[in-house]
Amino acid sequence: MRERLFKVLALLVAPFLWVSLAFADYYPNLVKTPSLVIKRGFSKQALECIQCHAKETPGIVLQWKQSKMSHAGVSCYDCHVVPKSYPSAIQCPGIKGTNVYISPLVSPKTCGKCHPKEVEQFSKSGHARLASRPVVDVPKLKKLQFYFEGGEFAGVPKGDAKTTAPRETGCIKCHGGKIVLGPDKRPISGWPGGIGTRYPDGGVGSCVACHYRHTFSIEQARKPETCGRCHLGPDHPDIEIYYESKHGQLYLAHGKEWRWNSAPDAWEPGDYEAPTCAVCHMSGIGDLSTTHNISERLYWDLMHKKGTLVRGVNTPKDQPERGYGPRGRKLMKRVCLNCHSRLQTDAFFKNLDNAVKLYDYYYTKVNAMLQDLKKRGLLKKDPWSDGFQELYYYFWHHAGRRARQGSAMDGPDYAHWHGFFQLFQIYKDMEAIYKWRITHGKIEEPSTVMPTAPE
Ligand code: HEC
Ligand code: HEC
Ligand code: HEC
Ligand code: HEC
Ligand code: HEC
Ligand code: HEC
Ligand code: HEC
Ligand code: HEC
Repeated sequence: MRERLFKVLALLVAPFLWVSLAFADYYPNLVKTPSLVIKRGFSKQALECIQCHAKETPGIVLQWKQSKMSHAGVSCYDCHVVPKSYPSAIQCPGIKGTNVYISPLVSPKTCGKCHPKEVEQFSKSGHARLASRPVVDVPKLKKLQFYFEGGEFAGVPKGDAKTTAPRETGCIKCHGGKIVLGPDKRPISGWPGGIGTRYPDGGVGSCVACHYRHTFSIEQARKPETCGRCHLGPDHPDIEIYYESKHGQLYLAHGKEWRWNSAPDAWEPGDYEAPTCAVCHMSGIGDLSTTHNISERLYWDLMHKKGTLVRGVNTPKDQPERGYGPRGRKLMKRVCLNCHSRLQTDAFFKNLDNAVKLYDYYYTKVNAMLQDLKKRGLLKKDPWSDGFQELYYYFWHHAGRRARQGSAMDGPDYAHWHGFFQLFQIYKDMEAIYKWRITHGKIEEPSTVMPTAPE
């Protein structure tokens, strides 16, 4: 019902929108954005926020003016005004002494008032369900964040503010953590956070991880660099793989001319020549509808130690933990079939499956060595000062992901040189250490090796 209301609203403003967009094309300078559109349809209270903030935080108001939502009458008031009882309700300097309360934190629950479908899909995704789990819940990884990376191992006292630095500047920015509020209800940790942020109001995830405030642009979310903010680097070089792929090459060559603003479910090949991350993992294409559940079109788990579908805690009954198995494969193939033959598509996935199975074969052997050493007491307690365990980590966490994700997304350099080639080298080095320890019945000293320089 609400959605229909918005569609009507959108239709009403469409002609003005068209005019203002055309205008924006000729005058890309933000300052020249026509302001007449803004005043229409806003309540007096909403106008107060806008007018004062146009002076206090002009950047925010100018960006918001560019958003489609401002043209549809959605203002500061709709997203930031909350009841007094709301966990993060405060008063900004401009409304002190009134009975209006605002929250600088805006969780998906707020977006969900008007976008229930997107929020529901998003909440089923690995992004919402799983991303903050390692940062918040897993003791081993918390030790990594505070003890190993936080300098406790080198003498920074436990609980010192410095120990949280790597977590606040690293993990949380991508994964999201749990927002902690201070006594004045303002956030002291975890905000603004990454994709799986847990809000004090119970909302989970961050819509602004992809739709940056305050333009909330669909074009920006569709661009691969938005995903590449987190999906990059030695352990999940998805943006690098994409740039290497023929799809990415076409994006680099012609992307500027592609039509990025078509409505979802109407953004089709023709608007673009080759898929971006969003096209394969999210967008409506052909007979597929847009989904905010980026796990839906997956088949394999390509990030953990083994390339299998694993079930885990917090998993809805109808859903494997990672990916949707054969159904995911079918959906992903339907994406490809918009532009490729069945012949090429089937061959591609057969190669991918073989690559995953080869990695798994290697992994099973490496793991057997690890378990054997463990049984014989030939592993150090601290994995980070034990060469074998260090290599084990680089094996699956870096090279293993690169080999599989390179194979999955047409990145031959990552599949091979940063992938299988390194797997083979690391394997050999692990095997040598394993044999030495078995033969001598002890751990070599000092046990620090970094022979294969994993990137
Ligand atoms: C569609 C919803 C929406 C609208 C409309 C909106 N905001 Fe926001 N605003 C957000 C979100 C989301 C964030 C980021 C909060 C988070 O990450 O928890 C934010 C953050 C902010 C922040 C803190 C950001 C910073 O960088 O310090 C301010 C200040 C703010 N908004 C002011 C405004 C003002 C003023 C307006 C009206 C001109 C406005 N917002 C309109 C959703 C909205
Ligand atoms: C008379 C001026 C004025 C009015 C009216 C006003 N604000 Fe503010 N607001 C400010 C100032 C000043 C700040 C502090 C900016 C800074 O920290 O640099 C602020 C900060 C904020 C923040 C960030 C949180 C914080 O406390 O720093 C949000 C979100 C916000 N305002 C939203 C709103 C909304 C929503 C309304 C309308 C209900 C509104 N403001 C009305 C002046 C105003
Ligand atoms: C009060 C209702 C309301 C709230 C709250 C709201 N939106 Fe919207 N949003 C709309 C409407 C209406 C449109 C349709 C605008 C159009 O199509 O012209 C829209 C459109 C959008 C679009 C599509 C923009 C485009 O370029 O096509 C995005 C993305 C979006 N909203 C994200 C968000 C996010 C993220 C939040 C929470 C931070 C949010 N919205 C909160 C009403 C709302
Ligand atoms: C703010 C950081 C961030 C951004 C931006 C981001 N991701 Fe992610 N993504 C993550 C994290 C963290 C995970 C790992 C989640 C987990 O723990 O399973 C992930 C996981 C995934 C997965 C695997 C999901 C699963 O269930 O196994 C896919 C596919 C994915 N992202 C695609 C995308 C695409 C496509 C985009 C852009 C449209 C994107 N991501 C943007 C951080 C991000
Ligand atoms: C640059 C962004 C970024 C940073 C910083 C980051 N991660 Fe990740 N992490 C990701 C992405 C993206 C994935 C998904 C990887 C994939 O699909 O291969 C991921 C996957 C993971 C996974 C596997 C998914 C799961 O839920 O089991 C764990 C565990 C993890 N990260 C822990 C951490 C920890 C702990 C930190 C900080 C010490 C951290 N990450 C820092 C982006 C990041
Ligand atoms: C991983 C990145 C990512 C995240 C996180 C994300 N979005 Fe989106 N969103 C997109 C992309 C990409 C599109 C365009 C889809 C297409 O091309 O069909 C989109 C489209 C939309 C649209 C327009 C859809 C329509 O039918 O008009 C809305 C509204 C929207 N998102 C809201 C949200 C809300 C609310 C959240 C938080 C619950 C959110 N998004 C989180 C990437 C994201
Ligand atoms: C041509 C389509 C396509 C494009 C473009 C694409 N992907 Fe993928 N992606 C795939 C396929 C296919 C898989 C493997 C699916 C399976 O079988 O599980 C995959 C797997 C992944 C995974 C691994 C999920 C896991 O289980 O660990 C992540 C993360 C991911 N993609 C992120 C991205 C990001 C980020 C981009 C853009 C920089 C991107 N993808 C571009 C098709 C694509
Ligand atoms: C919007 C159209 C489009 C979609 C959707 C699409 N592709 Fe492509 N793809 C292209 C174009 C165009 C090329 C470049 C063709 C050439 O080599 O001349 C290409 C090239 C490729 C190549 C490189 C082939 C070679 O010559 O080495 C692979 C592999 C590939 N695509 C796989 C996929 C897979 C897998 C999917 C689905 C997950 C997919 N593509 C979806 C348009 C698309």
